[in-house]
Amino acid sequence: METWDAITSRRNVRNYEDRAIPEDDLVRVLEAARRTPSSSNKQRWDFIVCTDRDQLRELAEVWTYAKHVASSAATIALIAPVSNDSKERESIHYDLGQATMSIMLAAADLGIGSGHSSVTEHDLARRILGLPEDRACAWLIALGYPADRPLKPIKSPDRRALDDVVHRHRW
Ligand SMILES: Cc1cc2nc3c(=O)[nH]c(=O)nc-3n(C[C@H](O)[C@H](O)[C@H](O)COP(=O)(O)O)c2cc1C
Repeated sequence: METWDAITSRRNVRNYEDRAIPEDDLVRVLEAARRTPSSSNKQRWDFIVCTDRDQLRELAEVWTYAKHVASSAATIALIAPVSNDSKERESIHYDLGQATMSIMLAAADLGIGSGHSSVTEHDLARRILGLPEDRACAWLIALGYPADRPLKPIKSPDRRALDDVVHRHRW
């Protein structure tokens, strides 16, 4: 897929075919995550890739709107260091946002759908993922082949108009 097609085709996919993602493609997506730029190149992240069905079902309980994780072919848990410093947290989450998009675009390029999930039940996520005390699961990204329709460029995305969001020279 061309880069532009990957950008315009990506959408949240929450229903997945019962089909595994080939290991090479999963590694490609994880490599995209690894290559993500980060503040001062600190790379304050780890990625836990989960493919075991029982573990995925458990992970789907970490937040009300994480249900799609249960039926995903794979879910990548974005792991961040725990920080009490709000500035540092903000910076880490900016970087994780970039990693998220790298993952999602690399997945779209391979025809793989992706769906974010927040995490609120942090103790549960820690137990499922075996995290040490100084790490937390910040987000989940579920992956799988779309069960409804394949990814293809979306002509009219549900977004504010370009003229509304883009300001030239000044507000
Ligand atoms: C920070 C963030 C958190 C999100 N959390 C969830 C979530 O917990 N569950 C979910 O189903 N979708 C979640 N989403 C997906 C958004 O609802 C979705 O991206 C948005 O509605 C736009 O739709 P699109 O991705 O199909 O373009 C999240 C997205 C972002 C950026």
